[in-house]
Amino acid sequence: MSTTEFDEYAAQYDDLVRSPIRDRFSTDSTFFAERKWQLLHRFLARQGVSSHDLDWLDVGCGTGTLLRLAGSDFNSASGCDPSSEMLETCDDLSISVQREATRLPFESDRFDIVTLVCVLHHVLPSDRLALMQDVGRVLRPGGMVCIFEHNPLNPVTRLVVSQTPVDRDAVLLSSGESKRLLRDAGCSPSHLEYFLYLPESLYRRIGGVEKIGTRLPFGGQYAAFGKYDVG
Ligand SMILES: C[S@@+](CC[C@H](N)C(=O)[O-])C[C@H]1O[C@@H](n2cnc3c(N)ncnc32)[C@H](O)[C@@H]1O
Repeated sequence: MSTTEFDEYAAQYDDLVRSPIRDRFSTDSTFFAERKWQLLHRFLARQGVSSHDLDWLDVGCGTGTLLRLAGSDFNSASGCDPSSEMLETCDDLSISVQREATRLPFESDRFDIVTLVCVLHHVLPSDRLALMQDVGRVLRPGGMVCIFEHNPLNPVTRLVVSQTPVDRDAVLLSSGESKRLLRDAGCSPSHLEYFLYLPESLYRRIGGVEKIGTRLPFGGQYAAFGKYDVG
């Protein structure tokens, strides 16, 4: 895909990611971002680190939903994206245009944690390793990464993706592929969690039930965490 494919979608992005099934799950994009921030926050707590001490980069930040939600909980929060149109609405955020698909527009050893939220399925499979190696470059030694991705094992996810215009060229990657990618990029996978089993209305009432499924590979999405090896 062209690295600026999202320029076409940017003006109507919020509408273009909607589908009847996704709307039954939640009509509010913030719900999906909240769930991710919750997982990230829990992961950091388990590592014994406070987000307030960390410099965070959100790669492929798009319109900046996650940065806006969680940015103030970090020492610094930055985003980058190849689509300057997606970044148009991000004047309130610290963002940079990424000119190359596999080269992040930052100096080496700049961040403590990097997230990629529903980005890799839009990156050519042949570019993914180089991008993840560059993530390792911009991270300080021992830096952490979190990949959030659609779970191809979930039939509802596959249906939503097939109905979503912005996912026209998507090539989904399984959690196993994400873990392999992390390893190949010099990062040790440290935690994998499946989530998004319940629609928002149910989640708000009985969200605790989702804990049963965190290790079962059927959630709508998954989070793969890792730590880049030192040296
Ligand atoms: C589905 S959107 C997700 C945006 C945002 N992360 C979110 O969750 O709302 C995918 C984003 O990945 C970006 N993207 C595509 N190829 C990329 C690459 N090689 N490196 C970084 N971002 C990329 C697109 O421009 C787009 O903004």
